[in-house]
Amino acid sequence: MRYVGEALALVAAATLAQARAAAAAVVVQYEELPALFDMAAARQPGAPQLYKENNIFKELHITRGDPAAAFAHCAAVVAHTYRTPPQEHAYLETQGMLAVPQPGGVMQLYGSMQCPFYVRDGVAAVLGSTLGATQITQTSTGGAFGGKEDVPSLPAAHAALLAWRTRRPVRLIYERDEDIICTSKRHAAVIRSKYGADRDGLLRAVEIEYLVDGGAYATLSPIVLFRGVVHAAGPYRCPNVRVDGYAVATNHVPAGAFRGFGSPQVLFAAERQMDELARQLKLDPVELRRRNLLRAGDATITGQTLHASVGATDTLDTALAYVREHPLAPPPANAPHLKYGRGLSTIYYGVGLGVGGEYLARTGATIQINHDGSVVFAVGTTEIGQGMKTVLAQIVAEALGVPFASVEMLPTDTTRVPDSGPTVASRATTMSGNALLHAAGQLRERLNAVAAEVLGRAPLQISLHHGQIFADGAPAALSFAQLLHECAVRRVSLSAQGWHHPRPLKYDWQTGQGDTYVVFSFATNIAEVLVDERTGATTVLRVTAAHDVGKAISPAGVEGQIEGGTLQGIGYALTEEIVQANGVIRNPHFSTYIIPTACDMPELVPLIVEHPFPDGPFGAKGFGEQPLMGVAPAIANAVCNALSISQYELPLTPERVWAALHSA
Ligand code: MOS
Repeated sequence: MRYVGEALALVAAATLAQARAAAAAVVVQYEELPALFDMAAARQPGAPQLYKENNIFKELHITRGDPAAAFAHCAAVVAHTYRTPPQEHAYLETQGMLAVPQPGGVMQLYGSMQCPFYVRDGVAAVLGSTLGATQITQTSTGGAFGGKEDVPSLPAAHAALLAWRTRRPVRLIYERDEDIICTSKRHAAVIRSKYGADRDGLLRAVEIEYLVDGGAYATLSPIVLFRGVVHAAGPYRCPNVRVDGYAVATNHVPAGAFRGFGSPQVLFAAERQMDELARQLKLDPVELRRRNLLRAGDATITGQTLHASVGATDTLDTALAYVREHPLAPPPANAPHLKYGRGLSTIYYGVGLGVGGEYLARTGATIQINHDGSVVFAVGTTEIGQGMKTVLAQIVAEALGVPFASVEMLPTDTTRVPDSGPTVASRATTMSGNALLHAAGQLRERLNAVAAEVLGRAPLQISLHHGQIFADGAPAALSFAQLLHECAVRRVSLSAQGWHHPRPLKYDWQTGQGDTYVVFSFATNIAEVLVDERTGATTVLRVTAAHDVGKAISPAGVEGQIEGGTLQGIGYALTEEIVQANGVIRNPHFSTYIIPTACDMPELVPLIVEHPFPDGPFGAKGFGEQPLMGVAPAIANAVCNALSISQYELPLTPERVWAALHSA
């Protein structure tokens, strides 16, 4: 056993009570071996060997220019060590799978998941069956946030194994405490960060060491680390950079994907560093950011030139303008212990799997127009509460020229579309959207050709909007129902397959230089807080969040994502912390692991900024993860400003803030 909560035996029974009794009857004899519960110990020479000779799952480096030489010429240098805790996803329903052996040898699984193709591959490997004999259907999934990326393959394989052995359907659903104990968390991290700027506040040198606690198995740590390393210095220009990232093996539960995927940790450090640097330079933190933010034509720390869709400064200006025009009421005069503070963060996020996951970056889709005019489509990505179903139905309706209400998405199922990779990395809108546009384009061509023939026009003269046919822009004497009838008479196929993959990226893994992601989304968060200096308790008054999403296909959906992500970010900033002692999670309940509730929701101002992404559907780029990412650093900066203190560790519990205030 490498961590507490690792599966040891599987028990199936006709009733839950029998299953529990049988599991309790399993007697395990453990021989205790030396274990590793912190990264520093794991990196010591002579440490127990969990993985290879050095307990490092993966190391990644970025080297650009000569930071050591550049620091010598900096007017200001700030160096600090930042720490962030493991975070629990707290999705609505726990991990759960139903395995049903089908006649003919197919194993059918239903369950809550992000990545049906991962589950398919995992189950097939465990059963030794073909991918074709493994059918995975995603059921309604009430949030996932990365916690249902790779993890569901495990309960799926367990349920499938029991179903295969018993030839009966098997249902395996975790209790909440089991789920918290034995499933992945956001990586705990230590970030050692040194920033140097010249007199004008231009960033000249950055050195970052990024350590993540990967837990007992590598799982997604290498690729989480890649995203973290690429995002380590935030959305700024800097000519001299060194980033060293290490994913360390310990005996904790394996850490994995969580909204932001290795970047919230480094962005907390990066945005605290920018404020620390501004303080040392006696420069307004807004001005410091404005001078360094990436603009079109600039290169990132990996030397990737950003050509289009670079709305970083626009998000900063948009958020600032709102706050300036809508000042909050001052804190009550009779409560001098309540200190007001305002803090800011600007962040970016590489959309899609990027060069580290390029081999998985493709998507398929099918669309079928039925003869009554209803439309169904299928994609390989999943609806996990983020609103993909709505956005993709909008894309299909717009591209086909049919009413939104006539379009339905089929449940995602591995037998319906080709392997489309995982639903992660904020990739569903752009990837499945483009695959659907490809399919819809073929259908439109056929519809236009038939309409043109019937109307005696050229196909290019025909257009379709909301189920109405136009010739040269004027309503045509042909209804959509008639057009479908004409297609049927001609036996024209009204189903089509689409396919999409992003443009290839070139990256040098030795130097960490090259193109990492096809496009970046940007966001500025302004947090306003009241801190009670008697207790250290923070109340978030307002979060103003401006996001460059390329194009908001569903503005209400974008606002919804900002709302959910912000609340999750408030939890990461103030209350959420998985506490572990000797590898045992001490707070596996929502009574002790504290997530924010509706009562903790501040006034929230979602602001949409649109710098279209030329390769995105209607200009959209992904953004599902970034609403969480900039919230904690903005709140941390606000708390520091309110009390004139510095904080280097999340979460900012009352105890930590109080201690910092009193040691200052
Ligand atoms: Mo997501 S954190 O890329 O599953």
